[in-house]
Amino acid sequence: MKYAEESIASRMISGDRAFTKKCSEWFEKNFFIPRFLLTTSCTHALEMAAILCKITDGDEVIMSSYTFVSTANAFVMRGAKIVFVDIRPDTMNIDENLIEAAITEKTKAIVAMHYAGVACEMEKILAIAKKHDLFVIEDAAQAVMAKYRGKHLGTLGEFGCYSFHETKNYTMGEGGALLIQDKRFIERAEIIREKGTDRSKFFRGEIDKYGWTDIGSSYLPSDINAAYLFGQLEEIEKLFNERMSYWKRYQNNLRSLQSTSTLELADIPDECEHNAHMFYIKTADLDERASLINFFKKNEICAVFHYIPLHDSLAGKKFSKFCGQDIYTTKESERLLRLPLYHGITNDEIDFVCDKIKEFYS
Ligand SMILES: Cc1ncc(COP(=O)(O)O)c(C=O)c1O
Repeated sequence: MKYAEESIASRMISGDRAFTKKCSEWFEKNFFIPRFLLTTSCTHALEMAAILCKITDGDEVIMSSYTFVSTANAFVMRGAKIVFVDIRPDTMNIDENLIEAAITEKTKAIVAMHYAGVACEMEKILAIAKKHDLFVIEDAAQAVMAKYRGKHLGTLGEFGCYSFHETKNYTMGEGGALLIQDKRFIERAEIIREKGTDRSKFFRGEIDKYGWTDIGSSYLPSDINAAYLFGQLEEIEKLFNERMSYWKRYQNNLRSLQSTSTLELADIPDECEHNAHMFYIKTADLDERASLINFFKKNEICAVFHYIPLHDSLAGKKFSKFCGQDIYTTKESERLLRLPLYHGITNDEIDFVCDKIKEFYS
């Protein structure tokens, strides 16, 4: 509140003012990323990444179908065809072992979406991309502060995309960021973000007037939103630990049910340090999930499922194809249920949810 007020009082509330700079510098320093550009959303960061990869008509982009629409839309908007491959049931992430079979001479990029802040198998994905000369874009919308082999998610591919939407661990209402690992893309990214002009260079005093130099749009958030986010960055360890304690309480509470019921909990691979973005369970199937949601409703618990696989949607049928078999994408998406997890949830509330789950399975 203090920073938002400070921003408003300064009357400099457009993009790239004091708090936007503070946020960028914070991430660049702490996440060892050459350039961090705050954007109006993760959707917009993905759109910028698609432009920077020079995606054009007929290009193919590989990703999993268990993701948010923006992961695909950003590339479809530039003319790409989306090629979906199946997911791994343990993490709900793209199955890295299926990617190579989906590569054709039209493939331009692989998008690794880190579900629930648990990393895709990046070592293998980066090796495949290197071998076939492809871009890797990380859709790390849910993965701020999560790591893979000690490195922050969003900093491993050429481009990383974060979301600071209200539903995320750290928020500015609506917002996101583009993380740029390869310095060669920084200048063009700044231009695309500033409506296709070299205004950023002008503001830094590097040129004496700015003009239209490329395609672009308005991807800068207001500094008030950045001020709201910056307050959280200063307290990030505290917020992270708090969220992790909720996650661990659910896990400790429900672990024992795994051996006595059909309930399954997430399996976090050793190389991944997740960020407690969500706590999900898996029921036996769609029917069992529907019964559990109903039972929750009667007990005033709001638990929600997540993505409906994109390849089955109206637009998915038009803009994509599924390479190989859908063994897990649909099946696992129908089993997944997210439990209440938000800043300020109490231990009693978590225990209440867990008790109700135990009651349901007994
Ligand atoms: C995987 C993924 N990518 C992208 C987005 C879009 O984020 P935003 O709302 O910041 O545009 C979301 C939103 O939840 C998401 O889950």
